[in-house]
Amino acid sequence: MNETSREIALDTPFKKEVYDGLSSYPKYLSSKYIYDKKGDKLFQEIMELPEYYLTNCEFEILSTHTKAIAEFFRSNNKGFDLIELGAGDGKKTKILLRYLSENDFNFRYKPIDISQNAIDSLTKTLSQELPKVRVDAEKGEYFQVLERLQSFTERKKVIMVLGSNIGNLLHPRAISFLTKLKDVMSDEDLLFMGFDQKKDPQTILDAYNDPTGVTAAFNKNLLVRINTELGANFDVAAFKHWERYDPETGTAKSFLVATKAQQVEIPALGLHIDFEQWETIHTEISQKYDDKTVDWLAGEAGLKAVAQYADGKKYYKNYIFSKK
Ligand code: AVJ
Repeated sequence: MNETSREIALDTPFKKEVYDGLSSYPKYLSSKYIYDKKGDKLFQEIMELPEYYLTNCEFEILSTHTKAIAEFFRSNNKGFDLIELGAGDGKKTKILLRYLSENDFNFRYKPIDISQNAIDSLTKTLSQELPKVRVDAEKGEYFQVLERLQSFTERKKVIMVLGSNIGNLLHPRAISFLTKLKDVMSDEDLLFMGFDQKKDPQTILDAYNDPTGVTAAFNKNLLVRINTELGANFDVAAFKHWERYDPETGTAKSFLVATKAQQVEIPALGLHIDFEQWETIHTEISQKYDDKTVDWLAGEAGLKAVAQYADGKKYYKNYIFSKK
């Protein structure tokens, strides 16, 4: 291999996906790459926004129904593994962990996150705040980690995906994700998942369109990251964040729109990209659900809902699933 071809090798998933997405028409980037150290911080800020109701709703659900949820998790004398995909800062999970710990449930907590930064700080805060909880954190992507979960067969597993993180997947991919979860589950295992619900379309738009611009910065972090990690020269200010919500399908979509024609070089990919004025980059999907859709997705994946919990406004629901 000569020097040039080595330079442009698409040798990481990030490089390959950025290359594919920005060479396509229309252009797209995967939201999972928003979450570096800066992206994690921006998401924390989003969770503090008054418009971003999801976090508070799920917090309310976990606080109100702690005991009922924990009783579902209860196992025989072997205890259980509580595996959380996309654990983040664990703020909501800590409500459950505190209850489980104070009531002497026999369990181990295994948080998994794509962000090493999130994993490190979660492990640290847990050892301070809930020292009795056995924590075994891991950095990784959902699908890679799922394969390893196959070996967790000794005792009951409870797999947890909070924050409506499944909403980043359109239905076909959500079904394949749920199917993969089902495939690693035994009959006694449970899946505990949060699904943001359909509601007044304005409320949803507001949640992804905050006036302070944190959500815009969060989406633009994709471009910042391509600049810093792949040596690109995106003029981040020349892109406008735009949100769209379709109340029929429940799909919220985020875009970055080029406000002027521009050229971008990405040296690490050997890629030159042209943007026409008003050309878009699709950056994120945040799917909203209703019971019918959740039942359908679960059914397609061989799962069934055995319980559900909502906040007072019914903005958000957490479902418990078992194998059909
Ligand atoms: C963490 C993927 C659930 O889609 O609501 C927040 C990320 N994007 N504001 C979501 C997000 C814009 C969030 N998820």
